[in-house]
Amino acid sequence: MSPTMPTSNTLSARLLDLTSPLQLLLYSLLYLPITILSHPTLLLTNPHKFQSLWFGALWKFLGPQMALSPEQTPYIAGLFTRAQGTVLELGPGNGDQMRHLVNAVREGRVERVVGAEPNAALHERLLGNARGVGLNPGQGKYVVLEAGAEPGSLIPALHRVGMYPSSSSSAGAGAAEGIFDTIICIKSMCSAPQHQMPEIVSTIHALLKPGGEFLFFEHVANDNDLLTRVWAWLLGWIWPIAMGNCHLNGRVDKAVKESGLFESCDVRNTKEFMGWNVFRYVVGVCRK
Ligand SMILES: C[S@@+](CC[C@H](N)C(=O)[O-])C[C@H]1O[C@@H](n2cnc3c(N)ncnc32)[C@H](O)[C@@H]1O
Repeated sequence: MSPTMPTSNTLSARLLDLTSPLQLLLYSLLYLPITILSHPTLLLTNPHKFQSLWFGALWKFLGPQMALSPEQTPYIAGLFTRAQGTVLELGPGNGDQMRHLVNAVREGRVERVVGAEPNAALHERLLGNARGVGLNPGQGKYVVLEAGAEPGSLIPALHRVGMYPSSSSSAGAGAAEGIFDTIICIKSMCSAPQHQMPEIVSTIHALLKPGGEFLFFEHVANDNDLLTRVWAWLLGWIWPIAMGNCHLNGRVDKAVKESGLFESCDVRNTKEFMGWNVFRYVVGVCRK
């Protein structure tokens, strides 16, 4: 039987799926008064910082729980198993996914990790989790950058820690050989500026060494189902504000395919995707 046939099971599954973003929004809204009370004037004086602190407080609570999702863990663990050498993680958050690196670090397959996490409110947890898997920041095994995935933020940050020869944000300038063996992102590309996705993908490609891999587990736009599209569009008026700039119409899968840059690219929906889910998760393995 087709999973999209309108049986009562499908209808209730669809309804549940449509409400799933609302549950996350509710959590976020609970953290709004908490953030206002702890920083009473910040919303007016520095709305950007306020939003980071708001999402930071939310994610310290939600991140560890979401990282234990039984549906998502096998995909994410599978990607981290491929990581090797010098790794760049884009948007690691609290570092809740880092536990998947513990064996690779112990066995010496992963030597060093750079985490580009733009939300400084999450850095303390991130560094703690890095220490927990044996990536000691004091020994340079874990380097945290206050930077997003977009080249204008990432490249100068890499330059500041001496990993990139030039501070020019144009992808590829001065990094012909590449720097990283693996670049990985888990549910973070949705928070990067979507209109910059082609530049982000070409920067990732330029930063990879030949043979290196870009690995991702991301939710992306559901362009096929009209009801889901309308719902995602409606939610889009509040979702990025309440969820740390996350977008329900992520495009990393399209940008990777359209770039044509990678030697090989395997990007597929997770098997749980029913055609109508608001969060269409894709798993990507792209080799330079
Ligand atoms: C949903 S959380 C996921 C965190 C982590 N990857 C995980 O799976 O637990 C999204 C993360 O992306 C980060 N982020 C926000 N803007 C970003 C950007 N422009 N580039 C990369 N990451 C970004 C957020 O700060 C946050 O840590």
